[in-house]
Formats: sequence, structure tokens, C-alpha cells
Amino acid sequence: SKKIIIAIDGFSSTGKSTIAKELAKKLEYAYVDTGAMYRAVTYYAMENGFVGLEFLKEDKLIENLKNIKLNFRYNEKLKFSEIYLNGKNVEREIRTMEVSSLVSKISAISAVRKMLVKQQQEMGKERGIVMDGRDIGTVVFPDAELKLFMTASAEKRANRRYKELLDKGNDVSFEEVLKNVQERDYIDSTRKDSPLKKAKDAVEFDNSNMGLKEQFERVLSIAERCI
Ligand code: C5P
Repeated sequence: SKKIIIAIDGFSSTGKSTIAKELAKKLEYAYVDTGAMYRAVTYYAMENGFVGLEFLKEDKLIENLKNIKLNFRYNEKLKFSEIYLNGKNVEREIRTMEVSSLVSKISAISAVRKMLVKQQQEMGKERGIVMDGRDIGTVVFPDAELKLFMTASAEKRANRRYKELLDKGNDVSFEEVLKNVQERDYIDSTRKDSPLKKAKDAVEFDNSNMGLKEQFERVLSIAERCI
């Protein structure tokens, strides 16, 4: 069978990464969570005082992009690739509400996108990869053999993210999470550079009322037809 690129895009917390991970495991493909890369750059910007709720030192961040080294390392125990920022595992640090509330601001910066898109294209050049994000089917791999676009109602999505955050021991309210999901979707789909939108040739999946198992089976059967 031939190796293909599977691009999965969609709004935040649509369960993209869950489906992407399962699919990669089943097909024995690599999986790349591009959101983690934007989150890691955001975390770096926060730590260095380049971004906060009330400010953004865009020039400073751009000047320092060359000092940001990102890589993924497979964790055998967790069966999952974890992201490293300048040699440090930052999986936990990048999933906080603080990062979530700043990431859309950072990901609207063209220089940041340019750097990360280049790295993503490099990772997929051998194909045999499942990548999820916002612009994978439109910008990173416009020639991907399979493109999926995931949607679900904002409430359903906020509810999923809320449960996830509680499970990880975060102290947040549902309203706060809902507001963040809506704000991110708005900024992500209205930004100038690479806005979130469905690629013309993407298959749309509304999973508001679909269980994970059914969703996965449907996605897998579509993927198998492409391979
Ligand atoms: O996928 P996740 O929700 O972790 O992504 C976090 C944020 O990173 C998104 O809200 C978006 O602003 C940005 N992002 C992006 N392009 C991608 C992946 C993520 O702009 N390909």
C-alpha cells in the first residue's frame, strides 16, 4: 500500500487529536500535533515576557524565533510523541488555560507561521503521516491525499475541553472554557494569514452527536479507500 498524508483540520476541541492519534496508530503512521507547536512558541513568549493578556511584543518575539528549537520525542510508556522546547519537555506547560488564552494571538503572526509551516512540511516529506491543526489541508499540505474537516457545536466542544482540564487537575469554570473556545475560533478563522477554513476538497465531519467509536470507524474506512 502507498503512504499518504492525512490532514485533519477544524475548530478547537473537536476531538481532532483523538481521531488523528488513533488513525496514526492503526495505520502505523507518524502523528504530529501542530497545535502543540503554536502552544510551545506561546509558552516561550510568555516565559520571556513577550506576551501577556494586555500586551504583545511582536518584534521582540520575531527577533528571538531563531532561539526556539522544537522537537517531538516518542514516549514509549504513553505511546505518544511529546513536545520539547529547547530540550525541555513542555507537554504539561502548554496545556494550561493561560497558554490557551494567548495562543491565537501568537499564531496570527506570519513569521511564526512561516517557521512552523516549514518544519511541518519537513516532517511530512516522507508521507505516512497524520497531522492535525487549522491550516494543514489549506497551507501546509494542499496536496494531502486525504483531508478531514471536523466540526461540533461550541457547547459540546467546551464541555470536552472542560472535562479534560478538570481531569488534569486544573481549576477552571465551564464559562471560562466556553469563552476561550469561542474566542479562539473567532481569531483563528478571521486572521489574515492562513485562516481556519475548510479546504475545498476536505470531507466535513460534524461529530456533535457521534460517539468516538463510530467516528473512528467512518474515518478509517475513508482513509483505507485512499491507501
Ligand atoms: O489544536 P490546538 O487547540 O492545541 O491549537 C492551539 C492554537 O494554535 C489554535 O487555537 C490556533 O490558534 C493555533 N494553531 C494554528 N495553526 C495550526 C494549529 C494550531 O494557528 N495548524
